Amino acid sequence: MTSPEARPPSLADGGSALFAWVDRMRENNPVTVDEDGTWHVFRHADVHRIFTDHRTFSSDPGLLLPDTAEAVRGNMAAVDPPVHHRLRKLVSKAFTPKVVADLEPRIVTAADTLITAMAEHDAPDLIRDLAYALPVVVIGELIGIPPEDRTLYRSWADALLSGGGPREDGTSLTDVMETYLADLLGQRRRNPENDLFSALAHAEVDGERLADHEVLNFASLLLAAGHITTTMMLGNTVLSLHEFPAAETAVRRDRALLPGLLEEVLRHRPPIMRLLRITTTDVELGGVAIPARSMVTPWLLGANRDPRHYTDPTAFDPRPRREAHLAFGGGVHFCLGAPLARLEGRVVFDLLLDRFAEIRVRDGIQVGYPSPMIFGVRELPVELVPHPAVARSA
Ligand code: HEM
Repeated sequence: MTSPEARPPSLADGGSALFAWVDRMRENNPVTVDEDGTWHVFRHADVHRIFTDHRTFSSDPGLLLPDTAEAVRGNMAAVDPPVHHRLRKLVSKAFTPKVVADLEPRIVTAADTLITAMAEHDAPDLIRDLAYALPVVVIGELIGIPPEDRTLYRSWADALLSGGGPREDGTSLTDVMETYLADLLGQRRRNPENDLFSALAHAEVDGERLADHEVLNFASLLLAAGHITTTMMLGNTVLSLHEFPAAETAVRRDRALLPGLLEEVLRHRPPIMRLLRITTTDVELGGVAIPARSMVTPWLLGANRDPRHYTDPTAFDPRPRREAHLAFGGGVHFCLGAPLARLEGRVVFDLLLDRFAEIRVRDGIQVGYPSPMIFGVRELPVELVPHPAVARSA
C-alpha cells in the first residue's frame, strides 16, 4: 500500500501543487503509508471515523514516546478519555460562551487599533501588523494577563514559534512562562477577578478542581492552539477574497454572509491541514489494514474537499453549506476555541470591509510555517484602498 507519491509537495507555490496532490491521493491512494511508516488518510468518511473512534485512534503521544507523559499532563489535546473528559468538563465550566461573547468589545478595540496602525504603515503586511498580533492580545485578555505585561507575553509567543530553545542564562522559556503564570494563578486563587484564570482556578465539577499544573498547561495550550491557527485563518481569508472576487462582492453587498464566508475559508484552506493520531490496535480503515501503534495523519485538507461529501467542493460560496467542514476537528477533541476564532474573524473582517474599498494582495507572499501541519501565509503584503468617504474624512 506504500505509494511513491506519499510525500506532500511544499507550499512554496502558494498551495496549488498541494491541493492537486491531496485531490490525487484522495482518489488513488486514500489510505497510504509513507517511507517513515506514517499512514496518510484523505477521505472525509475515514477522517471522520478517526475523530469519532478515539479508542482506536489515540491522541496520546506517550503511546509511542513514553518520555512525553509528564509534559502532556493537563494538556487536553494530548490525552484520551476518561482523563480528557474530566479536563474538558472542568475547563468548559470556565471557558463558557459568555466568557467569549464578553470579549467582543475588547477584540473590536484591539483590532481597530492594529488596523489603524497598519493603514498608516508605508508597506502594510496583514500578517505582521494584524493577524499575528491580534490573537496574542486576545488570549492575553482572556487569561487575564495585566496590560503592563502584554509585551512580555507577546515575546513568549514569538519565542515559542521560533523554537523556544534554552536562553542565555540557561533557563528555558517554558520555565520562565511557568513561573510567571504560576505567580498569576496564585494571585487569582487568592483574589479572583473577572478573567479565565480566576474562573479556571475556581471551576468545580463533582467536588473536583483543576490542579495548578493543569491550569498552567492549559494556559500554554491556549497560546499554542489559539495563536497561529487564528493568524492563518485571517491571512487565508484575504487570500480567498483575492482568489474569489465574486465572494467578496457578495459579502460587501450583504454582510450577513460574512460568517458563511469564514466557514468556506476554513473548508478551503484549513489552518491546521492535518492532525496526528496513534492506533491502539490493528484496524481496517477504508479497506486497508493498519497495524497497532502506527502513526496516522488524517488530512483535513483532503476531507474538506471530498466530492463524496460536499457538492461542488472546489466552488467557493459564502452562502451557508449544509455539510460542515472539519477545520476544527471533530469528536471529543473538537476545537474548544472555535467560537472565539469565529468571533475574531467576524470582528476583523467587519472592520476591514467597513474601512477599505479594496484589500489588494501584493507580490511577495510567503506561504508556510516551519510546521508541516500548518497551511497559511507567513507574510502578506497588502495595499489598502480606503472607501472614498473614509479617505476624505481622514
Ligand atoms: C481558526 C482558528 C483555529 C483552528 C483552525 C483550530 C483548529 C483546531 C483543531 C483541528 C483542533 C483539534 C485537534 C485534535 O483533534 O487533535 C483544535 C483543538 C483545540 N483548540 Fe483550536 N483552532 C483554532 C483556534 C483556537 C482558539 C482561538 C483557541 C483558544 C484560544 C483554541 C483552542 C483549542 C483547544 C484548547 C483545543 C483542544 C481541545 C481538546 O483536545 O479537547 N483553538 N483546534
